[in-house]
Amino acid sequence: MTSNLQQQYQALCDQVNYHNHHYYVLDNPQISDAEFDELYQALAAFEQAHPQLIDANSPTQRVAGQAIAGFTSVVHAQPMYSLDNAFSDNDLADFDRRVKERLKQSVNLEYCAEPKMDGLAINLRFEKGQLVQATTRGDGVSGEDVTHNIRTIRSIPLQLLGDGWPAILEVRGEVFMRKKEFLAMNQRQLILGEKPFANPRNAAAGTLRQLDPKVSAQRRLSFYLYGWGEMSSDWSQPETYAQTLDAFAQWGLPTNPESALVQGVEGMADYYQQLLAKREQLPYEIDGIVYKVNSIGHYAQLGFTAKAPRWAIARKFPAMEKWTDLLDIEIQVGRTGALTPVARLQPVEVGGVVVSNATLHNLDEILRKDVRIGDKVIVRRAGDVIPEVVGPVLSLRTEPLAVFTMPSHCPICGSEVIKEHDKAVHRCSGGLFCPAQRKRALQHFVSRKAMDIVGLGDKLIDQLADQEIVRHPDHLYALDLPVLLRLERMAEKSALKVLAAIEASKQTTLARFIYALGIPEVGEVTAKNLAQHFKSLDALQNADQASLMTVDEIGEVVAQQVRHFFDQPHNREVIDALLAAGIHWPDPELKQALPASASPFAGKTVVLTGTLAQGSRTEAAAKLEVLGAKISSSVSAKTDFLIAGENAGSKLAKAESLGITVLNETQFLEMMEPING
Ligand code: IVH
Repeated sequence: MTSNLQQQYQALCDQVNYHNHHYYVLDNPQISDAEFDELYQALAAFEQAHPQLIDANSPTQRVAGQAIAGFTSVVHAQPMYSLDNAFSDNDLADFDRRVKERLKQSVNLEYCAEPKMDGLAINLRFEKGQLVQATTRGDGVSGEDVTHNIRTIRSIPLQLLGDGWPAILEVRGEVFMRKKEFLAMNQRQLILGEKPFANPRNAAAGTLRQLDPKVSAQRRLSFYLYGWGEMSSDWSQPETYAQTLDAFAQWGLPTNPESALVQGVEGMADYYQQLLAKREQLPYEIDGIVYKVNSIGHYAQLGFTAKAPRWAIARKFPAMEKWTDLLDIEIQVGRTGALTPVARLQPVEVGGVVVSNATLHNLDEILRKDVRIGDKVIVRRAGDVIPEVVGPVLSLRTEPLAVFTMPSHCPICGSEVIKEHDKAVHRCSGGLFCPAQRKRALQHFVSRKAMDIVGLGDKLIDQLADQEIVRHPDHLYALDLPVLLRLERMAEKSALKVLAAIEASKQTTLARFIYALGIPEVGEVTAKNLAQHFKSLDALQNADQASLMTVDEIGEVVAQQVRHFFDQPHNREVIDALLAAGIHWPDPELKQALPASASPFAGKTVVLTGTLAQGSRTEAAAKLEVLGAKISSSVSAKTDFLIAGENAGSKLAKAESLGITVLNETQFLEMMEPING
């Protein structure tokens, strides 16, 4: 009976292990996540029902509940060597020559080339196929027992797959953290108010030093193997390094898919170029390439130096971390007014790219890292991520340096700098007046939900702003044909269109206008609420914080922003200039007098065409919008009304053919009567 249960249990464990291996090692899942969960739950339920059967290496037992008290030192059964380094093709050629000399061989040698993972060397000891111990390299002679943490790595089997393995098998490889995990983990560190790790290697090391395996399990380490230690003689090892690793892979151990066999120095150099080009796209960090003589028969003849085997060498990549001087911290003003401190560095080559600037993000970050102008700093580039200042080299800070502070006024426009409540960001309050914010402000001003000036795209705004033709939005209303025609790629037809759109935008609504001003925190809905509440720009501009806070959905932060915006004299100047240019809107009071829903136009789609005698089409459109109509530019089956002025053309014909209600100007005005009267 028990043996039957045991068989059932073993079968379940085997199934979970099999799918784990396909998922974590082979990257080739055989069942869906949901099916896997079901299987895993079945195993967990079985164990709950039969606790006496639980195997310490069951896949459910990776996180072995308890934290350990400390690390025990373990003497390695066989020493863990390091590697000699090569920094150039010449160094590699020397290595190849030395090997051939020792082997008294002149033909090209075959090497196995593999990425040099930037992590930590680990020895895994399997006895009878079960993982019994994992140790760090330590000083090469003895390391620390980190079995409890290594067991949490899903790609490492707790029980070797298949059979045929030696009774004692030690495999060696690198534990590392993938870039994605590293970023996610640092984000969690920040949320928890803890110090982020400087790089994936430190993060992996910190994770292995955790006493509580639950923490390591969360941080998701990875592993690739690249060697072996003690192996009992009940196994006949293949003749080459590559075949040996293949055998290990058959037992469920993860090997690096980038590994390849290459021939002679030329093959080594080709592989170097290929992997270097791929470096930034790899999901983990590597600091070079390791070349190993493939034929194991040669190993005994080549032997070891005091620290490294003579049959292997590491060719280093350009370092991704360098030290340089922090010359200055400058402030850049972003498009939304956010002040970003930027490190000006003594130019230094990092990973093949010369770096002279790096973002410092914000003041909190600078204080947290404690970087000061004059420091020697560690600069790091990770993949295609922008260069980063990791921190100062404190041992080299010989004289006291001033702690960095943010300026109280915008370095571009001199406006007051404000720090938003509870946010790390400092912001220039210059708004429309600050040149650095102008382009962004202009883009916002002309956008569809703001003044809706079609045809004024980002490229055009860039040109107008760069050439200082338009510095504030009111300058848009002074543009004329000759000025536009002087711009790059501007034909007369599109210039005329732009001018017409600018002209049409003068007729707007108070809500659109408030939104267009780009007051921080004031989006479309807030702008509408403000317009509805205050009904006139004057009333809004003069409202104090307390009365602003009585408006729907407006709290202290928004009220403060609004008050602050209108307190800046230059914002007032721009607003006055806009009004002087002819921007106007129907009085929202009128909407109050007649509930929009009461109008025959409420909720209707209306198209305007031809020339109206009383006021422009855009004015009529704005009034209709106030009443809740949707204005469309073309006639379709969805159109409810076509308002046709003098000389109406194709739109009128189309509306008639579709049987859509057509109103002439008199009829239109009659239907608008309540609002005009
Ligand atoms: S072979 C006796 N292969 O590099 C052979 N090491 O600088 C010793 N490393 O301690 C190691 N990737 O932590 C080897 N593909 C790779 C490697 C690799 C990373 C690390 C390992 C070693 C260090 C030596």
